[in-house]
Amino acid sequence: EKGPFPFYMLKEINEQPAVLRRLVQDYLDESGKPVIEADLLAALDQADRLYILAAGTSYNAGLAAKSVFENLAHIPVEVGLASEFGYNTPLLSKKPFFLFLSQSGETADSRQVLVKVNQWGYPSLTMTNAQGSTLSREATYTMLLNAGPEIAVASTKAYTAQIALQTILAKALGEKRGVQAAIDFDARTQLGLVANGMQTIIDEKDFINQLAQNYLATTRNAFYIGRGYDYAVSLEAALKLKEISYVQAEGFAGAELKHGTISLIEDGTPVLAIITDKRVASHTRGNVQEVRARGAHVLTIAMEDVAEKDDNIILDNIDPLISPLLSVVPTQLLAYYTSLNRGYDVDKPRNLAKAVTVE
Ligand code: M6R
Repeated sequence: EKGPFPFYMLKEINEQPAVLRRLVQDYLDESGKPVIEADLLAALDQADRLYILAAGTSYNAGLAAKSVFENLAHIPVEVGLASEFGYNTPLLSKKPFFLFLSQSGETADSRQVLVKVNQWGYPSLTMTNAQGSTLSREATYTMLLNAGPEIAVASTKAYTAQIALQTILAKALGEKRGVQAAIDFDARTQLGLVANGMQTIIDEKDFINQLAQNYLATTRNAFYIGRGYDYAVSLEAALKLKEISYVQAEGFAGAELKHGTISLIEDGTPVLAIITDKRVASHTRGNVQEVRARGAHVLTIAMEDVAEKDDNIILDNIDPLISPLLSVVPTQLLAYYTSLNRGYDVDKPRNLAKAVTVE
């Protein structure tokens, strides 16, 4: 089933352009208009706030989509860790709508919130890769990622599928609400560009393997930094690295370095900077200089529009609002090769299960 791939994770990273193209086919019509269940859209349209709840990588996919919903659909979004939300429930808005992101549809931390949401009588949507899963059956609405089975414990194609599908949903809601940004956002073209950009990065995987060897082969720790749209990706990049390569990794909003973490930077500490967001690129460049001056071994991932000649990985230009879809791919490959080069079982990292069905 793995075909030519030594591990499912590499296979699943490779599938991402196709997964995106399938989502475009399944959820956008020929003219690029979203095809979404009318009842679901009506319920969302009535909501005054969207609560996105999930765990792990799915939570990170929610963080990445928050700006997309706010920009395209003008709906305020709160993203929560399901495990915290159920027991430390924030003061809810008057008309909340709950979105559960779960690849497996079986995550117990998310389910315990959904049980409460149903008791409260609020509408909910599960976005999942597993038809008929518990979270799908118990939510008011379901949207399927159609990403094909994800076998590797480290989630890759579900993360990008979740962001892409949320983007389509945000566009649909925004259009219904007459938001100009949603009408102008050409999801079909943009997601097509993302798929092509992903393929470019995947084709450079041998080069990324070299970078993994140069920067991450023997290190005990690593830091990812990003601002704005790149911050959410830095969190996901760090999770991926720690999960399968056992390198202690943290993702940071670039500016936070100087509020504490920069004290950890020593000679040779890897710092991986993600730079796609024009509004804050120069500030992240400033952070890169600060850590370099303290001996950090800096690897930069930048989008063409804001790239400089010394950047290590250059991403094709896409709308920065959805840049996490593309910028995450090199970080997935870096994590993959770091784990592989260290001789670990990439698909089955120690202590972890694919679906976490206990709270
Ligand atoms: O199936 P779910 O999306 O609900 O799973 C949530 C997390 O357990 C999952 O994303 C986990 O963090 C992954 N192993 C990360 O790669």
